[in-house]
Formats: sequence, C-alpha cells, structure tokens
Amino acid sequence: MIGTKGIVTAVNGNMVSVRFDGIVSMNEVGYVKVADKRLKSEVIRIRGEISQLQVFEITKGISIGDEVEFTGDMLSVELGPGLLGQVYDGLQNPLPQLAQAAGYFLERGVYLDALPVSNMWQFTPRAKPGDKVERADTLGTVPEGSFTHRIMVPFNLYGSYTVSWIKPAGSYNIRETIAELKDEKGNAVPVTLSFRWPVKRAINCYEERLKPSEPMVTRVRLIDTFFPVARGGTYCIPGPFGAGKTVLQQITSRFADVDIVIVAACGERAGEVVETLKEFPELKDERTGRSLMERTIIICNTSSMPVAAREASVYTAVTLAEYYRQMSLNVLLLADSTSRWAQAMREMSGRLEEIPGEEAFPAYMESTIASFYERAGIVRLRDGGLGSVTIGGTVSPAGGNFEEPVTQATLKVVGAFHGLSRERSDARKFPAIHPLDSWSKYKGIIEGEKVAYAHGFLRRSAEVEQMMKVVGEEGTSIEDYIIFLKGDLIDSVYFQQNSFDEVDAAVKPERQKYVFAKLLFILGSKFTFTDKNDARTWFNKLRQKFLDYNGSPWKSERFDKLESEIESAVKSQSQGLDKTAEKIIY
Ligand SMILES: Nc1ncnc2c1ncn2[C@@H]1O[C@H](COP(=O)(O)OP(=O)(O)OP(=O)(O)O)[C@@H](O)[C@H]1O
Ligand SMILES: [Mg+2]
Repeated sequence: MIGTKGIVTAVNGNMVSVRFDGIVSMNEVGYVKVADKRLKSEVIRIRGEISQLQVFEITKGISIGDEVEFTGDMLSVELGPGLLGQVYDGLQNPLPQLAQAAGYFLERGVYLDALPVSNMWQFTPRAKPGDKVERADTLGTVPEGSFTHRIMVPFNLYGSYTVSWIKPAGSYNIRETIAELKDEKGNAVPVTLSFRWPVKRAINCYEERLKPSEPMVTRVRLIDTFFPVARGGTYCIPGPFGAGKTVLQQITSRFADVDIVIVAACGERAGEVVETLKEFPELKDERTGRSLMERTIIICNTSSMPVAAREASVYTAVTLAEYYRQMSLNVLLLADSTSRWAQAMREMSGRLEEIPGEEAFPAYMESTIASFYERAGIVRLRDGGLGSVTIGGTVSPAGGNFEEPVTQATLKVVGAFHGLSRERSDARKFPAIHPLDSWSKYKGIIEGEKVAYAHGFLRRSAEVEQMMKVVGEEGTSIEDYIIFLKGDLIDSVYFQQNSFDEVDAAVKPERQKYVFAKLLFILGSKFTFTDKNDARTWFNKLRQKFLDYNGSPWKSERFDKLESEIESAVKSQSQGLDKTAEKIIY
C-alpha cells in the first residue's frame, strides 16, 4: 500500500508541520526526507489538512517543501526472541550494530533490524494443526538464554483462529513462517517468530489483573523491611542531583528478585550509561551463574541524544516488559529519569503552543505519567500462569523540591515512595532514602506491627535530636537521650547499607528478618545507665559490633561469635523489655 504523502510547511525545533493529502492518524509514523536521508517522526497533532510531527532525530537541514511519507503504522517495536541482552536506543535500534554501521558518531536516518535476523532459534511446536487459538496463545517455544521464550499468536490478531499447519521442531530464523493460522472467514495468516506491536498501547492479553501483594525483594534493607515494593507494583525515587538515584537503581537491577530487568536510561548523562554498559556484562547473575546482561535489556537515550526519542524510549521499555510478562515472567522496569521525559513533553507542548499548566508542563502530563505507571501490574494469564511488571522510576526535581509537578504527579499514582535526601547523601548515609518522608502502601517481609514499632524510635529520636539542638545535651533527660541513641543505632546498622561491602551490599530476606528480630529486642529493652556518657560509650561499642556483624557472612563462625557478644552485652545491660515490645515480640 502506498501511504499518504505530505509537504513540510514549517519547522520549529524538532517539530515539523506537514500539509498532507489523504488520511493520517495520530501516532502514525512518518518519514521526513532530507537529501538522501529519511528521518523517523511521529504524528502528534492533526488539524484539518495540517499535521504536526515530532522528529526523533536532529532536524538540521529540513526545509519547507521537503517531502514526507506517512507509513500508516503506529510507532511500534518488534517482539520476538533475541531481545534479551540488547542495548537499544529509544527507537529499538541496537546501538552496538548502529555504531558498526554508521561509526561512533551516530548518523541520522539509519534504522536497523531490532532482532538479529541471522540467528537460528531452536523451535519446539506446542500447538498442532486443527487447534483453536487466540492472540497470545502459545504456538511453540524457543530457548532464549536461561528462559523458555514463548512464540505466541501475535497480539494484534483479534478473534479466533485455527492452526492450519505448524513447522516441526527445528531451527528457524525470525523471518521464516513457522505456522499458518486461518481466521473465521478462511483467510490464511502466516506467523513468524516475531511480530510488531504499537508502543503506546498496553498489551492486555491476560485473563485478569490482580492486586499486587507479594513483595519484590530488592535486598536493600530499608526497602524490603520498611518501604517495600510489591511484585507488579510501582514506586518512585525522587532525589536531588547526586543523591544516589542512579546507584540505587543499579543495585536494584542487580539484586531484585525478578526474572528480567529492563533499564530505560532516559536523558541521563552518557557517562553513567556507559558505566552500566561496561559493568553489566561482567557481573554474574547469582541464580544462573551467567552474565547479568543475559537477562537484561537496556534502552538508552542519553542527554546528548534527540529529546523526542526520550518519550519513545520509555514506551519501548514498558512494551518489552509487558511482552515478557505474557510468558509468565516477572519483569522489573527501571526508568531513570522520568523528569527528563517530562521535560521533553514540556518542550513539545511549548512548540505546539498548547495552554501550559503548572511550571509550563502540559495539562495532560499528569495523566500521561499515570497511564505509564498503570502499565505495571501482576496478571493472571489465560493459561493460569502469573506474570508481573514492576515499575520503578526516578524523578529529579530541581533543587530537590518534591512539591514540583512531576514529583507530585508521580506520587499520586505510585504505591511506594523512596524519597532521597540531600542531607543524608551529604552525610554519606547511603542509601539516602529518607526514613521519615518515605512511605509504602505494600506489605513487606516483616509484620507491619514490628516495623511500625521500630520506625517509632526513628521519629522520636529525630524529635529528641531537634530538641537537643535547642536545649543542648545537658537539658535532655537520660530517657530521651537513650531514645535518641536507639534511633541512631537503627539508622547506622539497619538503614544504612554499605554497597561496597561484599556481604552487606545485598541482604537476603531471611537474614533481614533474623537481624531485625535482634534489633527489635535491643530497641525494646529497658536500659539504665549512670549518665549520658556511659550510655553513649555503650551504644557506640554496640554499634561497632553490629556493623562487624553485618559484614560477616551469614551464619559463619564470625557471625555467630559477634552475635553472642552482642547478646551478652545487651543482656548484662537490659532490665527486661518494655510492655509494648513484649507484646510485639512474643
Ligand atoms: N549506595 C551508595 N553507596 C555509596 N555511595 C553512593 C551510593 N549511592 C550514591 N553514592 C555516591 O553518590 C554519587 C552520586 O550518585 P548517583 O549518580 O546515583 O546520583 P543521582 O541521584 O543519580 O544523580 P543525578 O541527579 O546527577 O543523576 C555516586 O557517584 C556515589 O559516589
Ligand atoms: Mg542519576
């Protein structure tokens, strides 16, 4: 089919206005022809015979009268085996191949196959001729790394189909027809190992959405114990410049208890992304013993790449996540940073001369952010299996001001909030998640009552600390001072986690529960000291021992030794548990 044609009538930054002749639809892809290049663009507004397109490339050289070809297709990605381990740009071009094809200074207008066409995949059929199938039903499988990749009926085949024939077990590439389906009218539909899906449409081939309930363990104590994330849930990490958003996401991407991690680096500095790219292939996945990269996809749109592609990269990432969810897998999508995406939205809205909302962000920004996070979820597939997409996004509010529109819009939709604090990162207290500002609506690995009890000490400790700033240590009662020391203890030995220590960097839930119980006992103990000096010295010693304990391998000889030392120190100083603690602990 020959698509609609158009002519450029105006250029404004990366937005072009095009007079067209025929039919054009929203979010349709068009190519602007400049010299011998075709620049990929997306229709973002249609008014009469004029449409506005955002160009995903640098628009230098485009002039009025240049030709535009509309494709009739929505902005889409290719789904099939071979996605894992890839590093893509926002338009799903594999970056390493792009570099090879075009040199290290990326050229515009070069678009490559998203999936390796020459790869042969070992296909095992599951369906047989005569089977009735619907979209997303499994026709067969191919192994992809350590996963069984399902070859499914393409999601855009609505209605019911009958399998006419299917290829026997064997090796095929993604372009070969491996089965033919017949629709209700008798039309033949060929199926290959891959198909395309529009990125802005959520993949919804499941039976039902469930309420996220099971924790997605990250092995970061502060998160799993205090501000948990659920499988299929959403969370956000707002934090000022340099407070540790990226590092926290990197830690999560390594240790989170999920099958597949998709990292969308959106508008961040190229240096950081390069670090991830270098680091990941060398890291070992504990579960498989293979490279971490084999279960990771990186979508990379750095600050030096065209702004419009930021939006594309976020949608590409979530679409890939939904695709793997259809295979009964648990996927974690990390977007860093959603503020850069919102800024791209603002820029485009300005060019469209829309009525601006707060801080010049478009009025629809809130609903756009909401509909992105709504694509997370745990679902029951038609075969009864479960799959999940969990989304964690960072927000970089200017000056660390959480009142700004992007943070606020995100807070309205997410289930957990890990607010990073400048004060804590400056004090090198990592992860710099603020223990008093942060919250989570999800259930964690430890009973809520116990967590709340421990958290209470932090709040009270902070109050005492404030008071001490005014009245001085002398004006503070010893009881209050002990509360302050208890709060400080839990902060130093449980909240802070040394990401450079082999043992302490990632703590399994079993160990978190175990150590938390020890800590709870200390918090609940009634201590008497002769004076504040005495109390401080005692707590300092205990803290040091506890830190060594945290650094000892789980259940090692050293671990046991330090534990009994801690216990006997506490026993000799404690006058028993307070009443609340007694109730909670026993
Ligand atoms: N968990 C951690 N343990 C030790 N150091 C950390 C930790 N988190 C962050 N840092 C330190 O803080 C620095 C900045 O962290 P990071 O790059 O993650 O900040 P950011 O919030 O992503 O910043 P930006 O807003 O610039 O993207 C790191 O280079 C590192 O030195
Ligand atoms: Mg960062």
